[in-house]
Amino acid sequence: MKTPIRSTQPTSALEDEATGCCRSLGAALRSARLRRNISLRELARRVHYSHTYLSKIERGDKALTLPLAEQCDEILGPDSNLAALVQRAQLARTRWPRPRQLPAGPSLFVGREAELASARAWSRTRRAGEAGVPILAVHGPAGIGKTALVLRWAAEQAERFPDGTLFADLGGGGRRVDPAVVLRGFVAALGIERHRIPQDVRESAALFRSLLHGARTLVVLDSAVDDEQVIPLLPGAGGGNSVAITSRERLTTVHARFDPLRITLGRLPPAKAAELLHSLVGGGGDVQAGRVGWASPEEIRSAAYDLLNRSRQPEVGG
Ligand SMILES: Nc1ncnc2c1ncn2[C@@H]1O[C@H](COP(=O)(O)OP(=O)(O)O)[C@@H](O)[C@H]1O
Ligand SMILES: [Mg+2]
Repeated sequence: MKTPIRSTQPTSALEDEATGCCRSLGAALRSARLRRNISLRELARRVHYSHTYLSKIERGDKALTLPLAEQCDEILGPDSNLAALVQRAQLARTRWPRPRQLPAGPSLFVGREAELASARAWSRTRRAGEAGVPILAVHGPAGIGKTALVLRWAAEQAERFPDGTLFADLGGGGRRVDPAVVLRGFVAALGIERHRIPQDVRESAALFRSLLHGARTLVVLDSAVDDEQVIPLLPGAGGGNSVAITSRERLTTVHARFDPLRITLGRLPPAKAAELLHSLVGGGGDVQAGRVGWASPEEIRSAAYDLLNRSRQPEVGG
């Protein structure tokens, strides 16, 4: 007799899961049938399937479908529960991936020790389940490093948010993004099919809060324009959700209602600005550290870009 040839191809996690699922549903069918002392042939006759097909299902080589599971439940009695098992397996298979939406921050990050220390201390002391939602609000002019700081802090805090991280650019300094659009994206990322998401912003905000109730998620609202844009995007009280907001403007209503930890960013002090400039240009530019004053990270990055470009230009004239 020939031995069946096993595939040497590595299977993907999804294939493994599907095979495991077929096997456990097949085993459930077999044990329910044996409990009722019904032979495979007898069951096959009553559900109008061939007994070889049923035996493949029991071995996990074929999938148990919902209509067949329902038929078997009728014959094997209500406690066989096969239809419920099939439905649960289908749901598990279609479950959405946990959102992990944070973009990567800059790999080269300097300074901001005091700000990071206060954000870390605040996240340690704001315990899950407290009234209100914990908010970290970072404020400052364009290019000062608000987004970079929040992404740095969030990357360190990842294990506090096992239910996911949501990120939206709200368009500050450019075109203000409608919160209804952001809500639709968030709710879809949490697994709700687009056609089931309410159009009305209050309803979709309520759905968003329901989905996050009791969860441990971080919501990053980057480059917010105003309070009206931010408020519908906040999770409700309770649970372990947190929010980080960056904005150029002060969000006075959010501040008054939610008492966030507020961090205002200013320019990097000369030593840090020089450190960033040196790291960016390496040996490729003519940097005079003594001439670097207080500067925003954006100013330093564009100065570095200019220096590097200049040092690559061929000398003109003599
Ligand atoms: N602490 C930092 N160290 C190094 N680069 C930084 C730092 N903060 C910001 N940057 C860089 O400076 C630029 C502007 O920062 P960003 O966070 O986008 O500013 P904002 O969000 O305040 O407009 C980006 O290129 C960013 O990667
Ligand atoms: Mg930003």
